[in-house]
Amino acid sequence: MILTISNNKGGVGKTALAAHLVFRAAEQLRVLAVDLDSQANLTATLIERSEKRGHASSDALFTEEEPPQPMRTPDPNIDLLPAGKALNSTDRLNLSAAFQAIAHLKKLAGAYDLMVIDTPPAIGLRMTTALACARQVVVPLVPESYSVDGVASVLAEIASIGENLNTSMRPAQFVLNLVNPQARQHRRIGEQISERFAVAQPWLSRSVAVAEALAERRPVWRRPTSAKAAQQWRALCDRLLIDNGLLRAN
Ligand SMILES: Nc1ncnc2c1ncn2[C@@H]1O[C@H](COP(=O)(O)OP(=O)(O)O)[C@@H](O)[C@H]1O
Ligand SMILES: [Mg+2]
Repeated sequence: MILTISNNKGGVGKTALAAHLVFRAAEQLRVLAVDLDSQANLTATLIERSEKRGHASSDALFTEEEPPQPMRTPDPNIDLLPAGKALNSTDRLNLSAAFQAIAHLKKLAGAYDLMVIDTPPAIGLRMTTALACARQVVVPLVPESYSVDGVASVLAEIASIGENLNTSMRPAQFVLNLVNPQARQHRRIGEQISERFAVAQPWLSRSVAVAEALAERRPVWRRPTSAKAAQQWRALCDRLLIDNGLLRAN
């Protein structure tokens, strides 16, 4: 099962969500994390920079005949295809490179219960690839009008790929992140989005604990002092994993 996190806007929590889903799923399942963003934030959350040396990175998906070999991480249930510097130039390759990457990703996913793909904040060949192989696309969104306007282009891209390249894709799920529960504007936009789209519960409040936890290479629920963020992020990850048949509701 392949789950892709996508939004062409940066800073909405794609990588934070990818990391949390990977950590949560790995409590019970074998997970492969794929980092397609050259900023390598997901990679940095899962391994130390020095650990990557000598290992294949995800740009090889687009350029090599054989699927690249994922690397181990300190968590025995999490393997990683780390981001590499060459990723940006993959967007200049043609569609046949995307088809090759799609085939490689599907083959790699077969050895895991879940593959989570983190994407760059741009519409391009990498986003096409990540959407075309996904069973589920999850779109994190900040409930502010400018970011809601921007999401139309991701939705158009998802719809186009769903029609042309990936007819087994499930309807996109949305996650509201960086919410200020005191801001009436956030509540109102959140409710408007929820009327039109499938928004997973709960909404995620802004909390400094999120960045701190990721810098410590762990999810917020493994920090001792972040009870509210811990509860929200864990419940949200459970919701998405249950909806996709990967965890059982209890
Ligand atoms: N709910 C949240 N509260 C506070 N900070 C958050 C939250 N979600 C994400 N962040 C932080 O905001 C920044 C941008 O998030 P990130 O996941 O990197 O976004 P993207 O991958 O979409 O660019 C990161 O420093 C991240 O740790
Ligand atoms: Mg990111």
